[in-house]
Amino acid sequence: MKIVVTRVIPERGLDMLREAFGAEAVTVTQQDGPIPRAALLEEVRGADALLPMLTDRIDGAVLDAAGPGLRIVANNAVGFDNIDLAAARERGVAVSNTPGVLTETTADLAWTLLMAAARRVGEGERFLRAGQWTCWSPMQLLGLDIHGATLGIFGMGRIGQAVARRAAGFSMRVLYTDANRLPEDAENALGAVFTDKATLLREADFLTAHCPLTPETRHAFSDAEFAAMKKTAVFVNTSRGPVVDEAALARALRAGEIFAAGIDVFEEEPRVHPDLMDCENAVLIPHLGSASVETRSRMAALAAGNIIAVLRGGEPPNRVA
Ligand code: GLV
Ligand code: GLV
Repeated sequence: MKIVVTRVIPERGLDMLREAFGAEAVTVTQQDGPIPRAALLEEVRGADALLPMLTDRIDGAVLDAAGPGLRIVANNAVGFDNIDLAAARERGVAVSNTPGVLTETTADLAWTLLMAAARRVGEGERFLRAGQWTCWSPMQLLGLDIHGATLGIFGMGRIGQAVARRAAGFSMRVLYTDANRLPEDAENALGAVFTDKATLLREADFLTAHCPLTPETRHAFSDAEFAAMKKTAVFVNTSRGPVVDEAALARALRAGEIFAAGIDVFEEEPRVHPDLMDCENAVLIPHLGSASVETRSRMAALAAGNIIAVLRGGEPPNRVA
């Protein structure tokens, strides 16, 4: 058996694989940063299973390099836009993701960004560390209230719903839009009102994206969308970078078309658009949505569990293709 893991991941996942198939079956590629494409094509040769990161593009060429023995690609992420699902299906290779375990952690981070952007925490921290703080000041770094405001959720899957649940503590009105409307009892439990995108843009004080990246959601937020938002709106993205036109976001932040943004994901990670870098009113962090000790461990375990199921002849519990 050969299982290729493309980065060092938490031990819990690796231990499961080693226990199931023996230590020699598990190859964890060692390099600084993501595995280079050429090394990936080399390392996967003869693999029965692949446990890649969201930074690895898994396409037909990688699947072919692995060869006909490859049974599963168990992505170490809930998003799977890095994997060519059609190519996997054609070759009879199963694909799985890590849903559920990172829902609450990612919702926590969306709220972290929302609050930091609203209350200008990034700016304030830079100001203090630069030694510029001389005195409490009645007009200094004034931000926006979160409590009582309207929260707009774009994409009401597991993460969107977890974000909505947290809004109750802030007495917020919650609007959402999604290709699929929730059942009425779920809406009632969340206190969330279904609406269209135009209304969401117009009415949200805080607008947060929780959709997957698909051809339909690519650049779902561009010039027209930012122009339609309130001048006092705060925009948050913890989904996937290309859901947002980064240049348009930077233009909107500079022009004061929106108040602030909290951004965890970027169009061409790890590159951040230079214009966005220059925006004081943007809180920018390096794709940390699921980055808690416990959640990363659970994700590794879930990915390992999918591999174990398939290599033992069963169905992967988190199959996406
Ligand atoms: C992280 O971005 C994930 O999709 O798990
Ligand atoms: C991902 O977990 C989602 O469905 O929001």
